[in-house]
Amino acid sequence: MCGIVGYLGKSEAVPVLFDLLRRLEYRGYDSAGIAILNGSIQTSKAKGRVDNLISITPEIMGCTGIGHTRWATHGEPSSENAHPHCNCEGSIAVVHNGIIENYIELKDKLIASGHKFRSETDSEVLPHLIEEYYDGDLESSVRNALSHVRGSYAIAVVSTDEPDQIVIARKDSPLVIGLGNNEHFVASDVAAILKHTKDVIFMGDGEIGVINGGGVKVTTLGGGSVEKNIETIDWDPESAEKSGYEHFMLKEIFEQPAVIRETLSGRISSDGIDLDAALPNVRRIVILACGTSYHAGLFGRYVIERFARIPVDVEIASEFRYIDPIIDCGDLVIAITQSGETADTLAAIREAGSRGSQKLGVVNMLGSSITRECPCIQTRAGPEIGVAATKSFTSQLAVLLLIAIRLGSERRMITTAEMNDLAAGLRQISGNIQRVLNDAARTRECAKLFAGANQFMFMGRGANYPCALEGALKLKEISYIPAEGFAAGELKHGPLALIYEGIPVVAIATKDAVYEKMLGNIKEVKARGATVIGIANESDTEIERYVDHVLRVPDADPWIAPILSSVVLQLFAYYVAYYRDCEIDKPRNLAKSVTVE
Ligand code: M6R
Repeated sequence: MCGIVGYLGKSEAVPVLFDLLRRLEYRGYDSAGIAILNGSIQTSKAKGRVDNLISITPEIMGCTGIGHTRWATHGEPSSENAHPHCNCEGSIAVVHNGIIENYIELKDKLIASGHKFRSETDSEVLPHLIEEYYDGDLESSVRNALSHVRGSYAIAVVSTDEPDQIVIARKDSPLVIGLGNNEHFVASDVAAILKHTKDVIFMGDGEIGVINGGGVKVTTLGGGSVEKNIETIDWDPESAEKSGYEHFMLKEIFEQPAVIRETLSGRISSDGIDLDAALPNVRRIVILACGTSYHAGLFGRYVIERFARIPVDVEIASEFRYIDPIIDCGDLVIAITQSGETADTLAAIREAGSRGSQKLGVVNMLGSSITRECPCIQTRAGPEIGVAATKSFTSQLAVLLLIAIRLGSERRMITTAEMNDLAAGLRQISGNIQRVLNDAARTRECAKLFAGANQFMFMGRGANYPCALEGALKLKEISYIPAEGFAAGELKHGPLALIYEGIPVVAIATKDAVYEKMLGNIKEVKARGATVIGIANESDTEIERYVDHVLRVPDADPWIAPILSSVVLQLFAYYVAYYRDCEIDKPRNLAKSVTVE
């Protein structure tokens, strides 16, 4: 949940580290810090944003350094708990992303042998442990120290004894090396270094790397040699910039026509659906995911069951890993994750694999951990910097539709007419998203009217139900307004009790098999005083008689319409948060990827 960075080259390290940290800030923004090697180690740390750090950092010269932006787990956000952490002598500095599970035991031993701790973090055991095992060679001391550590880590370490070197290592937390022109960059993910280089080496689990003027050497923690490939990332560096938008979230919402075009590119032809990975013939599918990706999974269930007639279970990854799941080689487990680093999702798919199930990932981040766990289908959304998932969600929905069509055609469960309709709908989707975006001003006006609300309800039925959940999540995470999403058919089983005069209810009422029933649900909440914002098709002339405000989406196949409605809900959440003056890209207490349990 934190971001770590490093730089070794010919330029001054401080501005480069600040640039990398700013780009990684979405991983955590409680505090930040840097350590620069220049004879001694000079550190600068601050509570709060990277900008705070920049404002308090004096001039520090030096061409080698490491940095960190923190999402607090052990110890409150403070400059004492900010990384880098140093050993007693101040000759070794470490930045860490992950959790050292046995840190109390290690800390007690280190204190007993005279080490002095300055923070409440688990991470501070690392520099002291490296100091304890220091044998004159930083790499072997780090290797030795890590053999005593349980937990997850991506670390970067510098030492005054070896001034032109950074030692890095990873286990269950992402880490990538960027190869520049006589310079090297280290970061928790590629989006941070794209501006500097597109040539990267992804560190694997249980690997340790030494970066110095001679290049990069990677070995296993056990000392075995490792041949690493240099990969060239074809993402446009501009995709990780705000490009004139006020927030990354808004930019990413507006990127969706191009993103979905890219997601579908080359995958639909008269021969069928072409995906990056084979889809095994299985009895059952289990989808595992968290947060927004879980909502995409719920949509996946509807479309796979509808078009391929394979039973699908959708599980929250953090639950699945602890319920002793019944799963075997007749099942295909699909993990959906934007980051490819969500700890619970990774653990859940490993758990499923250990029970013999077949595995598939649906992932956005290139080179992320899930790509090493199983074959993956890329959603191709490009870097998503806003903490609130937007384009990654709609691209997941598009990929799940492709999976459903492909499985349906392989099993001969989908008719040619259905396939042609869906393929035609998907070909039009980018244009239709663009039409939704062209109408953003209307959504903005509507959002402005409700920015003062202190509670929201979102309801949908069928494939619109996952959208209702996602609409509620989007709103609450960036505007902090309590919002509940529910299946409209459940109204009378409880949620109706929450309806009072004036409460805003967002009703997704696009034309589908349950449209009439949805109108019935709208009447039920209206009769109890709710103010209803309906999301309806452009050609729907009836809806205005039922709701107070209408936001329109182009007419589309009912299995594709949820993608369009999701874009409206994203815009709505964005503008409500905007008028409440919220920190949209960095919502309180959250970080982009949850790499700890
Ligand atoms: O990277 P992942 O898709 O695995 O992340 C899962 C959730 O943490 C993520 O979707 C989260 O719910 C988003 N902030 C929602 O906008």
